[in-house]
Amino acid sequence: MSELVEKIKELKAKKNAVILAHCYQNAEIDEVADYVGDSLYLSRRANETNADIIVFAGVYFMAQTAKLLSPDKKVLLPRLESGCRMADMIDLEQVREFKSIHPNIPAVCYINSTAEVKSECDMCCTSSNAVKIVESMGEKEVLFLPDTYLGKWVEKQLGNVKVITYPGFCPTHLVIKPEDVIAAREKYPDAKILAHPECHQEVSKLADYVGSTAEIMKYAIESKDKTFVIATEKGVVDRLVRDYPDKKFILIKNNVICPNMKWHTLQDIYNSLEQEQHEITVEAEIAEKAANCINKMLEVSQKVLQP
Ligand code: 13P
Ligand code: SF4
Repeated sequence: MSELVEKIKELKAKKNAVILAHCYQNAEIDEVADYVGDSLYLSRRANETNADIIVFAGVYFMAQTAKLLSPDKKVLLPRLESGCRMADMIDLEQVREFKSIHPNIPAVCYINSTAEVKSECDMCCTSSNAVKIVESMGEKEVLFLPDTYLGKWVEKQLGNVKVITYPGFCPTHLVIKPEDVIAAREKYPDAKILAHPECHQEVSKLADYVGSTAEIMKYAIESKDKTFVIATEKGVVDRLVRDYPDKKFILIKNNVICPNMKWHTLQDIYNSLEQEQHEITVEAEIAEKAANCINKMLEVSQKVLQP
C-alpha cells in the first residue's frame, strides 16, 4: 500500500468519513474508496451512510445529490472543476422555458442535472432505472431532460409513452459513432458489444446490450462470452481488465474519456479530506424541492428494482 493510500485511510477513520467513487474515476481511486459504482448505487450509499463526511470522487451533480440526500453531512468534492458537461447544458431558466413550451406534461430529469433543475421536475431517474421509472408514472407523455438520447432510449423500450426530450447530450458518449460499432463487429466477430444509453440511438441500435455502467459490468462479468467491446467511458474497461484477467475487454475507441471525471487524484482526495475543503452547499428552498424529486425516484426504484 502506498504511503498516500495509508494516510487517506487513517484520515478516513479519524474523521469518520466515507469515500464514494464513480466507476469512471481513475482506477487508482478504488484503493481508498468504500463504494465504487454507478450513479444509482452511489445515491443509495449516500442516502444510507452513517459517516460524518462524504468525499465524492465523481462529478459535481453526484456530490450535490449526496448533499441533498444527506443534508446533515459534510460533502466534499476533491476538485471543484469536475462538472458534468451534460448537466451544464440546462439551467433553471431553460427548464422553465422547456416546461412552458409543453405545458401540463410531467417532467423527468436525469440525475445528471443540477439541484436547481431537479427542483423544477416531478421525477428523477438514473440510467439504470430510467425505463422503469417512466413506466411507473403511468403517463402517456413525459418531458425528459437533459439527455435526449437516454430519453429516446426510454421511449423505444416502452413503446407506449411519448418522451419529449430536451436537446442535451453527453459529449463523451457522442464520440462513439455507428461506424465504430460496425468496425468493432468486423474486427472482433466473437465479441459482445455493450453500450451506455447516453450513446447516440444509432449506436445503441447496433449494440448487443445497452445498460448503465454497473449493468454493463454485471453483464460482462456474468456472461459466458469471453470478449467484450465496451461503448462507454474508459474507467469501466480499466476495472474489468484489472478484475477479470481471463476475459478480454476492448474500449470501442481510445478517446472515450470523460475529462471531468478524471480530475480527481489520490492527492486531491487527501487534501480535500485533510483540509475539509470544497464543501458542497445547496440553498434551502431549492434543496428541499430537489431532494423530494430524488427521494421519489429512490422510493419507486426500491419497489421496482433490486436494491
Ligand atoms: P451511470 O448512471 O451509468 O452511472 O452514468 C452516469 C454518467 O454520468 C454516465 O455518463
Ligand atoms: Fe457527464 Fe458525460 Fe461525463 Fe457522464 S460521461 S459525467 S454524462 S460528461
